[in-house]
Amino acid sequence: MGASFGGVICTRPGLLGCKSTVFGQPSERVSTVGPHSWHPRSRKAAGASAPVVDELGDQKSQGGAVSDAGTQNDKATLSVGGTTAEFPVLRGTDGIPSIDIASLTKQTGHTTLDYGFVNTASTKSAITYIDGDQGILRYRGYPIEQLAKNSTYLEVAWLLIYGELPSASELASFDERIRRHTLLHEDLKRFFSSLPPTAHPMSVLSAATAALSTYYESESDPHNPEHVELNTVRMLAKLPVIAAYAHKKSIGQAFLYPDNSLGFVDNFLKLNFGVLSEIYEVNPVMTKALDLLLMLHADHEQNASTSTVRLVGSTGANQFASISAGIQALSGPLHGGANEAVLQMLGRIRDSGESVERFVERVKNKEDGVKLMGFGHRVYKNYDPRAKLVKEAADEVLEALGVSDPLLDLAKELEQIALEDDYFKERRLYPNVDFYTGVIYKAMGFPTRMFTVLFAIGRLPGWLAQWREAITDPQTKIGRPQQLYTGAAERNYPGV
Ligand code: ACO
Repeated sequence: MGASFGGVICTRPGLLGCKSTVFGQPSERVSTVGPHSWHPRSRKAAGASAPVVDELGDQKSQGGAVSDAGTQNDKATLSVGGTTAEFPVLRGTDGIPSIDIASLTKQTGHTTLDYGFVNTASTKSAITYIDGDQGILRYRGYPIEQLAKNSTYLEVAWLLIYGELPSASELASFDERIRRHTLLHEDLKRFFSSLPPTAHPMSVLSAATAALSTYYESESDPHNPEHVELNTVRMLAKLPVIAAYAHKKSIGQAFLYPDNSLGFVDNFLKLNFGVLSEIYEVNPVMTKALDLLLMLHADHEQNASTSTVRLVGSTGANQFASISAGIQALSGPLHGGANEAVLQMLGRIRDSGESVERFVERVKNKEDGVKLMGFGHRVYKNYDPRAKLVKEAADEVLEALGVSDPLLDLAKELEQIALEDDYFKERRLYPNVDFYTGVIYKAMGFPTRMFTVLFAIGRLPGWLAQWREAITDPQTKIGRPQQLYTGAAERNYPGV
């Protein structure tokens, strides 16, 4: 095709050199814009975006920017059933181009069939970039390795949600606002006691997130920027508290109140590992390690849970409902649940006394659906860059915490054997982020069933950023795939 693409059109401030449209003074409230001015169609009519003014008077963009980088300069043609149709070819800032088939059914009377959306871009997005062949991951253009070395989870959360790195004062006020929103309604705390003690913490997390929405029904209009901003902060502040209560419930310990004198990660660790009868001492090794792990999970473009969040959001459902659904999607063992499955797999190998070689043989023979959990990825056909960082951290953290875990040695042995084996080489299967995270979470003292919950807290900024991007994208429509019907043809009801 070989087209040249230019003429980037700014549809929002803050990206690709687009100038931000300043709306009013910092002291102005968003309500001056009107609660419905944020609706995609009214945005189009207004022709400009309005930065949110938060409670503390800060201005920020509403979730960064989707630029119209997909300028059409090239065409793809398709001949089917005697019709030849032309489609624009769109190119983003980076990555492979997309054929825009919006008019396909209209032009040809056909749909496309793409199980697992392997070839289908569901949206334009300006948040995260992955090159699976090269093992590249960037948030808002910044390589994950640089962020891992220099940034923090809260800084990255801001970056993902608002599109640019925060200034020192923006970060301080963001941190402060999150600290002030950590309390849960006392009635919601009683919600936990109505669930069985055996409840999986991921189910508890999702259910309590949905329940959280009932306390904010009058402030949950997805098209009201003030509501969206407030609920963004509420979610960031309260999800870790809910997660810690799910943990405490599962081990039968009393819930602690958040300690807002502590930073985000320390507060979370105290809620999980503190007890009412003792003073909690912050362990900087744990703080650093957990901050890194949360940051590495913060976004991963259109994966299954994020696509769920965007799809639910496309119906006009609020942030709590969309994120509760995302948590459920994340829980599956093929997605976020893999970190739990990896530890279970390692434990089974150790307990059975089976050699690693024999286990790998069983994986290759696809015995009873046996898989090497924590290996393989839909997008990465190279070493997952996050897995590299986690592997490095695992050794450091275990050493600093004075923990020696034979499961880490087993994981390394498994990796070594798999990486040299033709089965894995031919299929380009490498360790993904979940392969080593569990070993670190275990060393910190988290039970296996909490691992995916930790993933969910890490992923929250990404879900929020993606939800906000979708809701403000004028091209967003309710997600509604087609199908290829393979059931019975019309037949007459014969009577029973
Ligand atoms: N162990 C053994 N074989 C595997 C594995 C694995 N972990 N992953 C893929 N394969 C094999 C498949 O059996 C298939 O083999 P075939 O060509 O002989 O049929 C081939 O590799 C291609 O695999 P697909 O399942 O088609 O790849 P897909 O992109 O659909 O799946 C997935 C990706 C779901 C991540 C898969 O690799 C997997 O199940 N991995 C284990 C679970 C896991 O770790 N999930 C976490 C992903 S990362 C995340 O969500 C945070």
